[in-house]
Formats: sequence, structure tokens, C-alpha cells
Amino acid sequence: MTEVTPLSVVVLAAGAGKRMRSPLPKVLQPLAGRPLLSHVLQCADALRPDAIHVVYGHGGEAVRARFADVASLRWVEQAERLGTGHAVAQAIPEIADHHRVLVLCGDVPLLQPDTLEALLSGSAQGVGVLTVELPDATGYGRIVRDAAGRVTAIVEERDADEATRALREINTGVIAAPAARLRGWLSRLRNDNAQGEYYLTDIIAMAVAEGMPVVGIRAGDADEVAGINTRQQLADAETALRRRAARMLMAQGAILADPARIDVRGEVTVGQDVFLDANVTLEGRVELGDGVRVGPNVVLRDVTLGAGTEVHPFSLLEGVSCGTHCQLGPYARVRPGSQLADRVKIGNFVEVKNSRLADGAKANHLSYVGDAEVGRDVNIGAGTITCNYDGANKHRTVIGDGAFIGSGVELVAPVEIGAGATIGAGSTIAKDAPAGQLTLARTRQTTLRHWQRPTKKRPDPGP
Ligand code: UD1
Ligand code: CA
Repeated sequence: MTEVTPLSVVVLAAGAGKRMRSPLPKVLQPLAGRPLLSHVLQCADALRPDAIHVVYGHGGEAVRARFADVASLRWVEQAERLGTGHAVAQAIPEIADHHRVLVLCGDVPLLQPDTLEALLSGSAQGVGVLTVELPDATGYGRIVRDAAGRVTAIVEERDADEATRALREINTGVIAAPAARLRGWLSRLRNDNAQGEYYLTDIIAMAVAEGMPVVGIRAGDADEVAGINTRQQLADAETALRRRAARMLMAQGAILADPARIDVRGEVTVGQDVFLDANVTLEGRVELGDGVRVGPNVVLRDVTLGAGTEVHPFSLLEGVSCGTHCQLGPYARVRPGSQLADRVKIGNFVEVKNSRLADGAKANHLSYVGDAEVGRDVNIGAGTITCNYDGANKHRTVIGDGAFIGSGVELVAPVEIGAGATIGAGSTIAKDAPAGQLTLARTRQTTLRHWQRPTKKRPDPGP
């Protein structure tokens, strides 16, 4: 058995992100609905490290506050921003000698755990640098290799001569090194360079000078290691993430009308032959069973849909669990706490909130069903409203199996409709209605025989 070396991750997040032109610190800028830093932390977490240290900058309390609920993070303040080497030096006193240190950047959000695993396993005996080849390497530190292809140094652009600048393999900023050696190198960093900073990248030449192997691992995908400095890059990352999410959905068996027009901002699992039309937005936890069809311009947020269920265009569902073969929308709004069993129909302009609808229940048109318990095969007619709120408290409406509620009915809760009851159209039902019978609550229709429609008065011709 080989001993597994414990891992400490250091995430550099002290940058102000001036180029974002935003009061929000850069690592808190949202990508797919959550901060950049949260993507980096999620990736780091997948490596099961011993500890994650986040280096945050002066004035970066908002960053710390945003992640206050993640108790496992260790926060290290870098009071002055003196360079990436200085930033890592703030965290290194917290890390034991026998650990490996993996340095990540808080503004490189698309990294994947597999890539980091490859870097760690490929450089287990020494220092590892994640690199990538770019068509345009402007602004980055260049990877210098010797004739045998071994990495010998990283040279920052501003310190590079013309030949070095011509190199296209760059440092992504992700570096792995053994803690004890790193501690020594960091203590010997100097800032006599073009930017007057303590460069983390200078440890590479130090390691080489000490005969320690330095391995440059190339990332396959330039998107994955792209750093975010500007709004444009943030938008590009969003696009890249969308493409990645679309690929994952298709790999699971989804059919996408247009892979470029789907937004995934959460954890989505799909069964086979799920069809997602254009401009579908999936947020939070979404589970779609086999054969589910989702029409265009639908938003699903924390939703489970059983096999064969269809959601028609322009519907918004949040916090909903739905059984099989249901029909929802178009223009359905189903709000949190709603549980729909199998074969339920929620039609156009119907709002459902915090209600349970049993198998085969239907509300096809223009209704509000709130805080209700709706039995099997109940039919709720057009324009029916549960009056669940008395201005202070919410009350429940209970409708028994097989009841038929006519159109335009007001059910004033708390109220119970018995199984198999029929409620006449236009009724205002404020008392319980018995099972199996017709209940009506409306004034009898009358016709006034000799009534005449008023006519407009002639204007007074005056004296
Ligand atoms: C750094 C690398 C460069 C690499 C590039 C990749 C160095 C010296 N250079 O350059 O080789 O190609 O990243 O994007 O490491 N940070 C701190 N404290 C500091 C300075 C930086 O926390 O004092 C953080 C930043 O917030 C950022 C990361 O470190 O997340 C990188 O810093 P940045 O200033 O962007 O470095 P570059 O000059 O771009
Ligand atoms: Ca940068």
C-alpha cells in the first residue's frame, strides 16, 4: 500500500477585479447563478483535500461573509497585495510539512477535478504546473522548456525577452508542490522584477536548481483554465458552461432543440429521450424522468417530473414534484410545495400553490388552487378560485375524490367538498358541501318583463 499524501488547497482570491467595473468583488461575480469562487471551491472539494485555505484581500470581508456557512474553509487575509508568491506565503504557515499544496485561483471557475487529479498524479514526486497552449498568449507567464522538453522556468510577460514572449505555452496559475520545499522557496522569493511583486512562478526555477522534477501538464481545453478578468470573459465563461451542461444532458439521453439555447444553473438529471425545446431554463435540483417533454420558454426550478410528463410553452414551475404523464401549461404557474400525482392536468393560466392534486385531477383553465387538497379525478372548472387567505391567515380547501367543481366557483377556505359532489357554476361556497350531491350558492335568475333600458336624455335646448 502506498501512503496517500494529504492535500492542502490554497485558493488565491485577493484580487480586486478592477476591470469588472463592479462594486462586487471579482470572485463573487455570478456565473451560472453562483459566485465564481463557489465553482472553484466545488472543484477543490471533489479532490477531498485535508483543508482549503482561501486567501482574501483587504476589504474582502464580503467574500468571507458570503461563504460563512462553509465551516470547513480556512480564511487567510493578505493585507497587502504583493504578488501571488506573497499570497501563498500567507497560507503556508498553516500547512504541515508532509502535505502537498495545490494552488488554485478564485477567478478560474471552469476547472474540472479530473484535470487536477491528472496534475497531482503526474507530479507526485515534485512540482506540477498546469499549462495550456494558446493562439494568443498575451498577458500570461510563459512556460520555458529545455531541449528535452523539461520545464525550466516560468517567465512573466513583462519580464520576458522577445524569444520567450513568442512561446505559446502558458502558466494557468495552477501549481502543485510539496509543502516543506514550497515553504523554503517562498521564504527566498524576491520582488526585483518588472512588477515589483513576489511571484509564485519563481519557485519553478528554484525547484529546477535544486534538482527537483518539475512537470508541466497540459490542459486539454483552454476554456477550462480561462481566467475571468472582464465582463466579456465572464459572459464567455457562461457560454462555455452552457455548452458543457448541454453536452452532459445529451450524454445522459436528452434531446435538445438547440444546445446553444438552454440554461442550466443547477444539478440536473434526465432520463432517456427527454426533449427540451429552445430557451428552457433549469435551476436548482431538477430531475426529469424518461420521455419528459419540455416546451419552449419554460423555467423549471427545483422540480421533479415523472416519466412521460409534458410541460407546454411559457410555464414556470418551482418547488414542484410531479408524477408521470401529467400535462402542464401552456402558461402554467406551479409554485413551491405543490405535489402533483400521476396524469394531473394543469392548463393555461392556472396557478397552483402549496397544494396536492391526486391522480387524474384537472384544472384546465384560468384558476387559482392554493393550500388545497384535491382528490382523484376531480375536475376544477374554468375560473375557479380557492379563497385561501382571509387577510391574516391561510386556510385549506379539501376536495374529495371525483368531485366536479363548475366554472367560476369561489371556494372560501377553510372548506371541504365531499367526494363525488357537484358544485354549480358561479357558486360562492363558504360552508362544507356534502358528498355526491349538487350544491349551488347563487341567486336565482330572474327576468323583469316590463323593464326598459334607459335612454340618453336630450340636451336641454335652453330658454
Ligand atoms: C498569474 C501568473 C501567470 C499566469 C496567470 C494566469 C504569477 C506571478 N503570474 O499572472 O504566470 O499566466 O496568473 O492567469 O503568478 N492574487 C492574490 N494576491 C496577490 C496577487 C494575486 O490573491 O497579491 C490572486 C489574484 O486574485 C488572482 C491570482 O492570484 O486570482 C492571479 O493573480 P493575477 O494578478 O491575475 O496574476 P497575473 O499577473 O495574471
Ligand atoms: Ca490574471
